[in-house]
Amino acid sequence: MWTCGRCSRSSARLGRQRDEARREASSSSRPAAGGAAGVRALVYAEHGEPVKVVELKKLELSPLGKSDVRIKILAAPVNPADINMIQGKYSILPELPAIGGNDGVGQVVEVGSAVMGVKPGDWVIPTNIGFGTWRAEAVVSEESLIVIPNDIPLLCAATLRVNPCTAYRMLSDFEQLRPGDSIIQNAANSGVGQAVIQIAAALGLRTINVVRDRPDLQKLTDRLKDLGAEHVFTEEAMRRPEMKDFFKNFPRPQLALNCVGGKSSTELMRHLGNGGTMVTYGGMAKQPVTASTSSFIFKDIKLRGFWMSQWNKDHGTDQFKEMILTLCDFIRRGQLTAPFCSEVPLQDYQVALEACMKPFISSKQILIM
Ligand SMILES: NC(=O)c1ccc[n+]([C@@H]2O[C@H](COP(=O)([O-])OP(=O)(O)OC[C@H]3O[C@@H](n4cnc5c(N)ncnc54)[C@H](OP(=O)(O)O)[C@@H]3O)[C@@H](O)[C@H]2O)c1
Repeated sequence: MWTCGRCSRSSARLGRQRDEARREASSSSRPAAGGAAGVRALVYAEHGEPVKVVELKKLELSPLGKSDVRIKILAAPVNPADINMIQGKYSILPELPAIGGNDGVGQVVEVGSAVMGVKPGDWVIPTNIGFGTWRAEAVVSEESLIVIPNDIPLLCAATLRVNPCTAYRMLSDFEQLRPGDSIIQNAANSGVGQAVIQIAAALGLRTINVVRDRPDLQKLTDRLKDLGAEHVFTEEAMRRPEMKDFFKNFPRPQLALNCVGGKSSTELMRHLGNGGTMVTYGGMAKQPVTASTSSFIFKDIKLRGFWMSQWNKDHGTDQFKEMILTLCDFIRRGQLTAPFCSEVPLQDYQVALEACMKPFISSKQILIM
């Protein structure tokens, strides 16, 4: 039985949606009879390295139930969490076999007779993690989808559900920041980092953006500055004594956003102002966060964590929709763009998966169905 959208650990509130997704998946995701017919989907039947375990399959769509919606998926990114799920290294894991992908945008093709909130032509994104967006079409319950405005660029819509929401929440929920205040972040060229740069600039916040050194550093720095980054430093530059002089003329950040862990996060913490907060939301270096004793005693630093899925669970769909509309306003005003992207046809998924495993690619891989 093919399953997707069913996670092994999650809340009771998510349970109903998950069960429906499982019902949908177990009927819609059987291998298609006859070979040529069926819906293309990227499926993994075991955990392991994505390039080895993900396969392009043809699956059968289930019939449309009265509360169901049939959607054509238009575009879906490959995010680190998708990779971690396939590797079996994420806090929530779908039952196997599973369809990859948690983010993306679809267009409604057909709705069941009892569906009230969605109509053909609408653009929709998944309500929750575990949707399985790497497929050409899906039949899912109405409540597993959120309608979004369709007057924003496709690549913005395809990358809206996870990274910009994470950036917006972290800038809003941990410190009371006012225009002119500063924040510091590492992996500033990540999808989240680019959204942080742009939303922070729109809110009048000043940013210190840390990236890994690379051969095309100047090009990357220019691209980030074009997005609104005020300062871009390498990890090495952040460790130099000259940084003390820098902070004579620049406000100490009260908020640090840590995507990396290890030495990089220790460095972010070192530059935080007294009483400031470091929020860890990613662990790209796979190294623990180590804080000096003095950061606690002399600076009273606060260490926090953030997980978008938990926020969604705690705050519910209405608040999620409200945030999506706010972000769409940023997009319409030209204050928030899609991350640097490479569009990859679904059948070339191996290229996208390989690129995601390489350092310094600075380009979100977007599967185009
Ligand atoms: N907590 C949440 O709710 C939440 C939500 C969204 C994302 N995330 C997490 O945030 C992280 C970034 O996601 P994304 O979609 O923005 O990523 P992305 O666009 O794929 O970018 C990955 C970033 O990680 C950096 N990186 C990779 N390996 C690294 C290493 N060993 N040391 C330092 N930096 C490294 C890359 O830098 P280079 O260019 O130098 O390779 C790049 O900046 C992931 O861990 C993701 O799971 C968490």
